[in-house]
Amino acid sequence: MIEMTLREIADVVGGTLHDVPDPAVTVTGAVEFDSRRINPGDMFLALPGEHADGHDFAATATAAGAVAVLAARPVGVPAIVVTPQDTAPSRAMALAHDRDGSGAAVLAALAKLARVSVDRLVADGLTVVGVTGSSGKTSTKDLLASVLAPLGPVVAPPGSFNNELGHPWTALRADADTKFLVLELSARGPGHIKALTEIAPPTIGVVLNVGTAHLGEFGSREAIAQAKGELVEALPPSGVAVLNADDPNVAAMATRTRARVVTVGQSGTAEVRATDVVLDGDARARFTLHAKGSQVPVRLAVHGEHQVGNALSAAAVALECGADPETVARALSDARIASAHRMDVRTRADGVTVVNDSYNANPDSVRAALKALVSMAKETDRRTWAVLGEMAELGEESVIEHDRIGRLAVRLDVDRLIVVGTGRPAHALHQGAVMEGSWGEESILVPDIEAAIAVLDDEIAAGDVVLVKASNSAGLWAVAQHLTAAPGAGTEAAV
Ligand SMILES: Nc1ncnc2c1ncn2[C@@H]1O[C@H](COP(=O)(O)OP(=O)(O)OP(=O)(O)O)[C@@H](O)[C@H]1O
Ligand SMILES: [Mg+2]
Repeated sequence: MIEMTLREIADVVGGTLHDVPDPAVTVTGAVEFDSRRINPGDMFLALPGEHADGHDFAATATAAGAVAVLAARPVGVPAIVVTPQDTAPSRAMALAHDRDGSGAAVLAALAKLARVSVDRLVADGLTVVGVTGSSGKTSTKDLLASVLAPLGPVVAPPGSFNNELGHPWTALRADADTKFLVLELSARGPGHIKALTEIAPPTIGVVLNVGTAHLGEFGSREAIAQAKGELVEALPPSGVAVLNADDPNVAAMATRTRARVVTVGQSGTAEVRATDVVLDGDARARFTLHAKGSQVPVRLAVHGEHQVGNALSAAAVALECGADPETVARALSDARIASAHRMDVRTRADGVTVVNDSYNANPDSVRAALKALVSMAKETDRRTWAVLGEMAELGEESVIEHDRIGRLAVRLDVDRLIVVGTGRPAHALHQGAVMEGSWGEESILVPDIEAAIAVLDDEIAAGDVVLVKASNSAGLWAVAQHLTAAPGAGTEAAV
């Protein structure tokens, strides 16, 4: 963040100083909510948690070098105190374990602080890039960090920090040296993305797709499109909206923005376009990038055809920021997904390939992963396994969406399907596969991870390709971990 005195911070957030001997002391570092990560010069954020209250760690944070604590009550060490009365916590989304609204008050203060810091940095040349969509935000954020790096220092969130805490926390990591601030914006309801854009107003906004993730909360795909479009509505006339021409719900957002629109995709009309897309044996795409009158070859190191759209969006942003197509193509080819459990492909010494995509799952990302799986075996006739758990948060559509995935697995010719779970969605997935084909007994329904592992240990053979995918809550990453660490697996190699 920009350097600010405690007095300035208190004024910005509408808080009062407590136990502060010198209000002119400055915060020179970042804002941290984990006292173990405090460095001298930082400010500590006291938030309620599931097991502990951050206020109880105020003294530890101060001992570690925190200049002050942003808190909801006095804590006996220098603090800027905000209360639900003097903030507008309604602007913040609900925080779990926030019984008395104090967490929301601290988050609202954090949002105001981030806004002031970002505004000043933008006045000095910082570019803020916002990314939203139902799937691929984190993947695209990682690609963006790679393609923008040749142009200057980039701040991007670790992992998937994309909510009312992760978003301002990331925004406050930008300082005077930062040239690009890349932010992921997520929503569980209308108004959430708008609220995030008010914390760090983007000048470039990317909308990747409108899918069915969080359908349960939104009710319909139209409602999801309405919410995702809040990002482009927030862009200024001098800004740029990067829209996916291949997704009609995203392309239609062109009418909802004052910013200049740049379209990306495989459609003939897209301004930043991919042609000649082919996947190699590890489902990595090669394509020709058409942009700004140039045609350059790109060879992605990340897996799955769905990464082509993400890569084009990242390319469009870099081109807008002044990169040339050749540099963009090179950076895309070098880019890895920095965030864990997303299409992480590893081949064991015995030739078994494990595709760990267990970070999350919604119908679109499961479809993308199944397609990647079969493409990996297409040329070589390897046996394919899909170990699938339940997709969370699909509301009323849950059973039908699980049924569709089961059917798709059969239609794509996945050889073996292991469905993990005991609920109705798992049952529907299994039944969908059973009903679809001649297949029948090739889909196995198992109650838990241990049972899935037992089947795999028994039946897996050299050369097989195994996809592991479910919502994070299913914990299926443990299956992938077991497979890559299994005795006899030998040295694994990341590809
Ligand atoms: N454009 C895309 N279309 C469909 N699936 C995708 C796309 N990009 C990534 N995925 C897949 O979706 C899953 C989640 O990817 P990623 O973490 O990048 O998305 P996200 O939008 O950040 O998700 P979250 O909402 O959980 O933060 C992964 O399985 C990934 O392989
Ligand atoms: Mg994410």
